[in-house]
Amino acid sequence: MKFHIETWGCQMNDHDSEKLSGLLVQEGHEPVASVAEADLVLLNTCSIREKAVHKVYSELGRLREEKEQRPLLIGVVGCLAQQEKESLFRRAPQVDFVLGTMAVKQLPKLVEEALAGRKRLIDTQEYPDNHLFPPEVTQRLPMAKALVTIIEGCDHACTYCVVPSTRGPERHRPFADVLAEIRGLVGRDFREVELLGQNVNSYAGGCTFAELLNRISEIDGLEWIRFTTSHPMNFTRELAHVLVTNPKVAPFLHLPIQSGSDRILRRMGRQYTAEEYLERLEYLGEGRKGIRLSTDFIVGFPQETDEDFEDTLRILDKAAFDASFSFVYSPRPGTPALRYQDDIPASMKSERLSRLQARQTELTLQSHRRMIGSIVQARIESHGPTESGHWLARTGQWQNVHLAVGAGILPPFGERVAVKITDAGPHFLRAELVL
Ligand code: SAH
Ligand code: SF4
Ligand code: F3S
Repeated sequence: MKFHIETWGCQMNDHDSEKLSGLLVQEGHEPVASVAEADLVLLNTCSIREKAVHKVYSELGRLREEKEQRPLLIGVVGCLAQQEKESLFRRAPQVDFVLGTMAVKQLPKLVEEALAGRKRLIDTQEYPDNHLFPPEVTQRLPMAKALVTIIEGCDHACTYCVVPSTRGPERHRPFADVLAEIRGLVGRDFREVELLGQNVNSYAGGCTFAELLNRISEIDGLEWIRFTTSHPMNFTRELAHVLVTNPKVAPFLHLPIQSGSDRILRRMGRQYTAEEYLERLEYLGEGRKGIRLSTDFIVGFPQETDEDFEDTLRILDKAAFDASFSFVYSPRPGTPALRYQDDIPASMKSERLSRLQARQTELTLQSHRRMIGSIVQARIESHGPTESGHWLARTGQWQNVHLAVGAGILPPFGERVAVKITDAGPHFLRAELVL
C-alpha cells in the first residue's frame, strides 16, 4: 500500500511522523509524496490554536471529495486526534481511524484492521512506554539534523495550553537510550541532533538536562546539539553554564516568556514574574553575548490592558530578544483559561500583534547586522543552489544563511563550513563561503 503523511504543528509532530512512517515501511508499505498517489493518508495534526484546527478540517474536506472518487483510507493522528477522540468521526465521517499521541506504536494494528474493512477505529489510550520508540524503525526526514525525543508530555499547567491534555504527563527517556540513539545517528553521518520535549530542561531520565548535554557532547563526530523547548522555571545555573561553555551545544536558546506583565503571567499560570525571567537570563553572565535568544509571546490574553501590553513591549527591549514568535491568544477546549472571558476585540489583538512584531523585526535586524563582517560556522542545508543562485545554510545560532559559493564548488549537504557574513535582513543573513 502507498501512504502519504501530512504534518502540522511542532517538531514533536515532525518526529512522530518519522516514527509513523517507519512503522508503515516496516510493514512493507511505501511512502509517496502526494495524496494523489496514496491509498492511505495520515493527517498528523496540531491543536495549539484554532487556526491549526481549521487547517485540518479543511484538508479533511478536500480528502472527502477525493474519497468519493476512489478508495482511500484516512487516518487522523496527533494532538487534535488525542483531543477530539470519537467526536472526530461525528464531524468528519470520512475518517477511518483515529490514533492518539501516546499510542503511536498501535498504528500498524489500526491500519491492518482498516484494510480488513473495519470502520471507525480508535486508539487514544496512554501507553506508558510510548516514549520508548525503537530508533532503528524511525524513517528520518531529509534534513541535516536528526530529531531525538528525550521527554514526552508536560507537567506544567499554563492556563491557555492544550498540550498537557494532548500529550499527557511527562515521561522521560533513560539517558542511556538517548546516548545509544545519538551514537547510532553519528554512525550514519548525522553531525547535528535536536533534542525534543515540551519542556526539555525538566529532564530527569537518570541525570539532569545539563548533564545529559555534557554526556551527549562526548560523542565523537557530533558537532552541534540543539534542544527545544525550555521553560524559564526549569532554566538552571547549571544549564546556563553548559550552554555558555560547551562548544558542542549550539549557541541558541528559545525560552518562551509569553508576556511582560506579571498580572497576565500569573493568570497564564507561568510561575514567574517578568523580573524573575530576566534574572534567569542573567545566569548566562558574560556568555549571554554569544547566545542568540528567542522567545514566544501570546498577545490579547483575556483582560490584557494597554498597560499590560506596554509591559510586554518593554520586556522585548529589556531582554533584547534576537527573535520571537508571537501569537494572538486562542481559547482552547478544556483549558482553564476558558473561565476568563475572551474580551479583547479581534482588531485590538491584531493591532497589538503587529506592534510587537514590528518592534521585533527592528531588534532582529539590529542583531543580524551586528554580525556583518564576522566569520561563523554554518551547516549546508541544500543539495544545490536555489533559483537565485545561492545555497541554503544554517548557523549554530539558528539563522538562515543565503550563501554565495564560487563557480565549480559544490559544498556537500550536511557539511559544517566557515562563512563570512556580508549582509543581513530580518529573516536571513547573506554570506560567502570561506575556503
Ligand atoms: N512547550 C512549549 C510551548 C509549546 S506551544 C513551551 O512551553 O515553551 C508553542 C507556543 O504556542 C507557546 O509558547 C505559546 O506562545 C503558544 N500558544 C500555546 N497555546 C496558545 C493559545 N491557546 N493561544 C495562542 N498561543 C498559544
Ligand atoms: Fe503548554 Fe505551558 Fe507545557 Fe509549554 S509549559 S507545553 S505552554 S503547558
Ligand atoms: Fe501542536 Fe501538539 Fe505540537 S498541539 S504545537 S503538535 S504538541
